[in-house]
Amino acid sequence: MTTRARLLGVCLLALYLTTGYGQEGKFSGPLKPMTFSVFEGQELSQIIFQFKADPPAVTFKLTGETDGIFQIQPDGLLYHNRSLDRETRAVHRLQVSALDAQGNTVEGPVPITIEVKDINDNRPMFVQPNYEGSVRQNSRPGKPFMYVNATDLDDPATPNGQLVYEIIMQLPRVNNVMYFQINNKTGAISLTLEGSRELDPVKNPSYNLVVSVKDMGGQNDHSFSDSTSVNIMVKENIWKAPEPVEISENSTSPLPIKITQVQWNEPGAHYSLEVKEKPPTFPFSIDQEGYIYVTQPLDREETDTYVFYAVAKDEYGKPLAFPLRISVKVKDVNDNPPACPSALTVFEVQENEQIGSSIGTFTAHDMDEENTVNSLLGYRLVDQTPTVPRDGLFLVEAYSGTVKLAEQSLRKRDAPQYNLTVEVSDKDFKTFCHVHVNIIDTNDQIPIFEKSDYGNLTLAEDTAVGSTILTIQATDADEPHTGSSKILYRVTQGDSEGCLEIDTDPQTNAGYVKVKKPLDFETVHIHNIVFQAENPEPLVPGVQYNASSAATFRLIVTDVDEAPQFLQQVFQAKVSENVARDTKVGNVTAKDPEGLDISYSLRGDKRGWLKIDPVTGEIFSVAPLDREAESLYQVQVVATEVGGSSLSSTAQFHLTLMDVNDSPPRLVKEYTGLFFCHPPKAPGSLIFEVTDDDQQSFLGPRFRFALGSESLQSDWEVSGINGTHARLSTKHTNFEERVYYIPIRISDSGRPPLEGTVSLPVTFCKCVEETCFKPAGHLPGIPTVGLAVGILLTTFLVIGIILAVVFIRMKRNKGQNNAGSARASEVKPLRS
Ligand SMILES: *[C@@H]1O[C@H](CO)[C@@H](O)[C@H](O)[C@H]1NC(C)=O
Ligand SMILES: *[C@@H]1O[C@H](CO)[C@@H](O)[C@H](O)[C@H]1NC(C)=O
Ligand SMILES: *[C@@H]1O[C@H](CO)[C@@H](O)[C@H](O)[C@H]1NC(C)=O
Ligand SMILES: *[C@@H]1O[C@H](CO)[C@@H](O)[C@H](O)[C@H]1NC(C)=O
Ligand SMILES: *[C@@H]1O[C@H](CO)[C@@H](O)[C@H](O)[C@H]1NC(C)=O
Ligand SMILES: *[C@@H]1O[C@H](CO)[C@@H](O)[C@H](O)[C@H]1NC(C)=O
Ligand SMILES: *[C@@H]1O[C@H](CO)[C@@H](O)[C@H](O)[C@H]1NC(C)=O
Ligand SMILES: *[C@@H]1O[C@H](CO)[C@@H](O)[C@H](O)[C@H]1NC(C)=O
Ligand SMILES: *[C@@H]1O[C@H](CO)[C@@H](O)[C@H](O)[C@H]1NC(C)=O
Repeated sequence: MTTRARLLGVCLLALYLTTGYGQEGKFSGPLKPMTFSVFEGQELSQIIFQFKADPPAVTFKLTGETDGIFQIQPDGLLYHNRSLDRETRAVHRLQVSALDAQGNTVEGPVPITIEVKDINDNRPMFVQPNYEGSVRQNSRPGKPFMYVNATDLDDPATPNGQLVYEIIMQLPRVNNVMYFQINNKTGAISLTLEGSRELDPVKNPSYNLVVSVKDMGGQNDHSFSDSTSVNIMVKENIWKAPEPVEISENSTSPLPIKITQVQWNEPGAHYSLEVKEKPPTFPFSIDQEGYIYVTQPLDREETDTYVFYAVAKDEYGKPLAFPLRISVKVKDVNDNPPACPSALTVFEVQENEQIGSSIGTFTAHDMDEENTVNSLLGYRLVDQTPTVPRDGLFLVEAYSGTVKLAEQSLRKRDAPQYNLTVEVSDKDFKTFCHVHVNIIDTNDQIPIFEKSDYGNLTLAEDTAVGSTILTIQATDADEPHTGSSKILYRVTQGDSEGCLEIDTDPQTNAGYVKVKKPLDFETVHIHNIVFQAENPEPLVPGVQYNASSAATFRLIVTDVDEAPQFLQQVFQAKVSENVARDTKVGNVTAKDPEGLDISYSLRGDKRGWLKIDPVTGEIFSVAPLDREAESLYQVQVVATEVGGSSLSSTAQFHLTLMDVNDSPPRLVKEYTGLFFCHPPKAPGSLIFEVTDDDQQSFLGPRFRFALGSESLQSDWEVSGINGTHARLSTKHTNFEERVYYIPIRISDSGRPPLEGTVSLPVTFCKCVEETCFKPAGHLPGIPTVGLAVGILLTTFLVIGIILAVVFIRMKRNKGQNNAGSARASEVKPLRS
């Protein structure tokens, strides 16, 4: 061992001691395959492990990838004498053998692996000092169009080799908007959303970016960085919506027709068409060159514009960019004839319409595009049927279609309807439309009577009401069944009494003259009647009813003998019921239309109370009248003509009798059930009611009550409760078990008052459950005479039998005393 070797040995030993390499296991041990991790760079030299060898081994040998750095001492101490470099060799594969004194291998070689652990001792570096790239305007945001790439020698499995890219600067930069973005892991550069929208080669054809790369994931203060410059050319986007296309409808060119093209910036894109809302037919297609075709004939009248979108996709079906809006306008050609507004247009016009008046406007329609010559319509009248009274009665304005009256006013009598044919034409087509003009009648005709005089008619005055006496007729030339031709008849003269009425037959306009009120010879016997015929509708100006609308008629009424007539059907009179006999109670009056004398008589005087003076009609009483029997006395009075046909008529005579106080008060009913229980425990009372047959004053009846005799006042008391009811009270309890008849005087409130005495039966009887106990058929305590006799006889019979028995026994048992028989005679009286 040289001095140097020994010196090193001391030095290593010191290290060995201070770092605790003496212990078995972690720092020293027997020879076996082992793996060690050692950081690169840091330590100039370091002991790794001490191998122990058992005899005969005395020394160790190291082989393998030592690179002149690893050494082993004879005592087994393995160390490196220079710092390691992972980038030079990341793993050293060594072999250690144990040798004996002769140098023969006694153990091993055993593989010892040294892994060199990375430290960040390398800067990232961009592969190129600067980059050139280009991007299409409107490229899809996020889709990379170029990459930058940096390398770092450090272990990519550790943060030391993990690189992060970042755009430090974009030049130019407007409004602080970044148009470019970089994927911080891959270095892929793409457009931002703004960049995709706003980049425009016309405004700015190139941009410069400064891109940095950092290792340590960019997170560490000790990370290394590098930067590079990236120049980007902005290229025009040829993926642009083409100009709107115009195609003529109803084209005869063979289909499909190429109409426009779209093109993606690079070849290889897949094209398709899309529609927002699917129309019923979609007559367009696109091929893989981006050419768009129309595939079916178009009809502007069905769809006049189409809007759809062209889409470019990559081979994975991902859209390459925004869809392009394709707009196709269908150009009109005059392929539609004018259409009539309806199969038949009907106008109406009044007879007296002025020349030049508009009758109606006729508007035909053309489906071709509005406000073009294709739909500009002209009108012409080509036919008028009928041509009465002449042709050319109408005209149609050439462009407005207004139908007017050309020549003269129309008359429905000439023709009620005109059929017109109107030719409507556009640039190329002609259509014929039908118009009917109906003439409306106006009330320009007056009713005319068939004759002006209906002659003389004689009628008896008793002609029945409702009978038709005459039929009159006028005619009206206006349109039938309208208010212009209907006729209303009225009587304008000769019927001031209103005896006649006239009904019109709606079909024939015949007027039926009827009797409405009885005719009366005595009032008027000759009626000079004038009939007037009129329309319900007013006449048009300038036309008036004249004498032809009136007719005359003479009605002669003849006399008929008529019965006398009472001035009233009911005569009423009122007298007091106590009027004296032969008092006049009323009168009746009748008159004979012919003025004959009248004789009066009565009928139905069932009580024989009245008589009538046959000449004057005065009525007298002949007997006492009684309101209580008949308050309203009704008889019939008869008036008979004296002479003539002795016709008679009747009326009613009602005589109301007024009350006088002539009825005494009385009990309202027969009181049989009034009773007190016997023996009475305390004085009691009963209530009874009285009435009076006289008419009562409106205040109601008022009665006063008193006992019938002074002697009763010690036992009874009577007192009124109200107008109709009174109370009868006992004054003590000493009453016998029998019926008492209590006389009570009652006076009414008439002037003068009338007094009556009633007898009120009151029974004292034994009570069972608060009701009078009555053995069948008898009142309690009132034995009938028969019953009393029966009881008496029975008692005597029993006594008789007992006496007989006693006498018989006394005969048999002499000497016995009478006591037993006396006891035997103690018989309870029969209970009644
Ligand atoms: C390390 O050891 C090798 C021989 O194994 C020697 O050549 C080299 O000079 C030594 N290096 C140092 C710095 O001692
Ligand atoms: C970056 O460059 C390295 C070395 O040239 C290469 O291995 C790697 O694939 C490149 N990465 C990219 C994303 O181009
Ligand atoms: C890298 O980008 C991702 C996603 O864009 C982001 O989540 C991550 O924070 C970024 N890393 C750094 C270091 O900026
Ligand atoms: C095309 O035009 C002809 C006449 O020009 C017409 O008869 C036909 O109806 C039209 N077709 C459509 C779909 O408009
Ligand atoms: C008008 O035409 C209708 C049929 O549409 C026919 O019934 C009528 O008689 C015609 N009128 C005239 C006046 O020709
Ligand atoms: C109607 O009677 C009048 C007189 O009462 C007489 O003058 C006239 O001639 C009579 N007319 C007819 C048509 O009998
Ligand atoms: C009444 O007028 C009609 C026409 O409206 C005419 O025919 C008739 O003669 C006139 N009658 C008289 C009495 O004037
Ligand atoms: C007959 O009664 C009327 C009222 O009905 C009366 O005016 C006329 O004086 C009365 N005549 C007599 C004689 O009472
Ligand atoms: C009078 O009194 C009796 C008994 O209290 C009662 O029943 C009756 O309704 C009364 N009558 C009138 C008119 O108050």
